[in-house]
Amino acid sequence: MAGRIPQTFIDDLLDRVDIVDVIDRRVKLKKTGKNYSARCPFHDEKTPSFSVSPDKQFYYCFGCGAGGNALGFLMDYENLEFPQAVENLASTVGLEVQREPSRGGAAQERREETSKPLYKLMEQVAGFYKHQLRHHPQRDKAVAYLKQRGLTGEIARQFGLGFAPPGWDNLLQAIGETDEKKQLLMQAGMLVENDKGRIYDRFRDRVVFPIRDQRGRVIAFGGRVLGDDKPKYLNSPETEIFHKGRELYGLYEALQANRKLDRVLVVEGYMDVIALAQHGISYATATLGTATSKTHLERLYRRCTEVIFCFDGDEAGRKAAFRALEAALPCMEDGRQARFLFLAEGEDPDTVVRAGGASQFTALLQEAQPLETFLFDSMAEGLDTNSLDGRARLSKLALPYIRQLPDGVYRQLMFQALAERTGLELESLMRLEAASPPPAPNFAPDAATEHNVPGPGEPPPAEPGDYGHFDEGELAAQPRKRTPTPQTAPGYSNLAQSAIALILHQPEIARTVKTASLEALSGDDVNLLRDLIELVQRRPESNTGMLLGHWYGTPEGELLSRLAGQERLIPSAGIEQQFSDIMHSLADRLPRESKLAQQVDKLKLTNYAQVSDLEKQQLREMLQEKQRRDEERKRREP
Ligand code: UTP
Ligand code: MN
Repeated sequence: MAGRIPQTFIDDLLDRVDIVDVIDRRVKLKKTGKNYSARCPFHDEKTPSFSVSPDKQFYYCFGCGAGGNALGFLMDYENLEFPQAVENLASTVGLEVQREPSRGGAAQERREETSKPLYKLMEQVAGFYKHQLRHHPQRDKAVAYLKQRGLTGEIARQFGLGFAPPGWDNLLQAIGETDEKKQLLMQAGMLVENDKGRIYDRFRDRVVFPIRDQRGRVIAFGGRVLGDDKPKYLNSPETEIFHKGRELYGLYEALQANRKLDRVLVVEGYMDVIALAQHGISYATATLGTATSKTHLERLYRRCTEVIFCFDGDEAGRKAAFRALEAALPCMEDGRQARFLFLAEGEDPDTVVRAGGASQFTALLQEAQPLETFLFDSMAEGLDTNSLDGRARLSKLALPYIRQLPDGVYRQLMFQALAERTGLELESLMRLEAASPPPAPNFAPDAATEHNVPGPGEPPPAEPGDYGHFDEGELAAQPRKRTPTPQTAPGYSNLAQSAIALILHQPEIARTVKTASLEALSGDDVNLLRDLIELVQRRPESNTGMLLGHWYGTPEGELLSRLAGQERLIPSAGIEQQFSDIMHSLADRLPRESKLAQQVDKLKLTNYAQVSDLEKQQLREMLQEKQRRDEERKRREP
């Protein structure tokens, strides 16, 4: 299983399958002219706006903007990870998936191999506990407990709840029949060995919650006592297959319950996740007794654009929320949102939803604070922001956080927001920013920094520009990172986008064009255009679907699908001429504008005090321009 899937294999695979077959097997398609159409499976609609092009091997929905190639469709429709979707598609055409030696080398492959029996064992353990909940002589008290917590049999089944009966060795007796099995149970964290060398079941006399990974494989358990004994909850220890820093309880179930997730809640407890699901709020997840990590959040933001954290309103809850905020900052690319909901003291999502129902809970969600409010309010606590000194301190405290935001409009706006709150000139802020030391801030009392360093099992950050391949698991659909360069003048990116749309429509036109004239230019869209041209030249047979495949799951991928879907950008004739005209005007126009972009980069990187007045003036104008465009975009969006 381990190892990257070479891009050439993916291209060959896409070449052999027909997207029309792939989709038609799942969503009945109707031929409409050259293309096929259907009601979109990704949003509710009465009239079909979902269209599939056999020529271009891609699909697009004019209603919700979903779009992509056959692999992307499978991933979104079946909720599959990238490697699984490749396996799935490959098997339909009888191809064996090729893998390169994995980055972790042979050791990782061995680990994958040795993990297989563990997954199998955990499935067996989960089956055992479920069986006990149905048949054990003392099952009644467990069932009564779950009922008393408001859960139905249906929801218990959905979450695979079970019962670890009283007694020291039920599991050991039932499953650890051989030394090998016993060893496996030990490895899986299901058994405990005491000082005297006695071995017994970890979970006893508890209701148990299987923890599943994104593929639905059971990897660990949580268990709750039926009464008020201590400890209230027990959790599996970290094992080869269970890493608390990346797993989210309930994510698999949420993905099962929702074809498309718009938002995900992060709550504190198992019972919160389940109680919310019981009331129809089936998009809650919980971290497993650890702080929310950046890995958790990257995982969520790959699936949805909004994450809402629900915490207790008490001191501990606010601390935990602040840690979550710290983990979220570097993930806040444009288009992503994080909000924070603080419940009244003593309440948790379970008690709130049981008392007031889904409607009351969702009403509370509407009022969750945006990240910026929570950040600034936390910073301003205890400061007199009416005094000059207080405001200076506010900016000093807030800056290290804001600078952790990825480059983008949001980051710029946060700088502006800070300027407004402090009454300081953006200029002086930038001077402070340049003067403040870069290391990670430590505002929250004993703020854990665990999320800032990759854990032992955590994948290393993707290499910039390293996106020719897809890797197993986590890295597979991670957006590739590019140092974003701000877009400058309006019209600039329009030209590049038009060129991109033409190439997507008819990739051949890019086969002979020279990219040298684009070299001096910067900006995300121009970079993307350049990459697209280079890709077509490397693989002249590419069709639209294959081109989209190279950017699947990235912000660029979204832009590409959108552009590919915009037939109105495509003239009925003279495509080549138009493309060549655009390339010429890009070459003519852009150096002037890219100079501005470079200045902004410089302003971001250098000490603001060393920047000339002229450049400062330009920065101010550009920020205004950015804000104006952003507002305009917001107005246009529904
Ligand atoms: P809480 O103490 O807030 O419990 O723990 P809860 O979820 O409201 O539990 P109920 O409603 O009494 O059943 C929140 C989470 O913290 C972890 C568990 O993951 C739990 O879901 N926890 C809590 C433990 O790991 N051990 C404990 O003893 C308590
Ligand atoms: Mn609770």
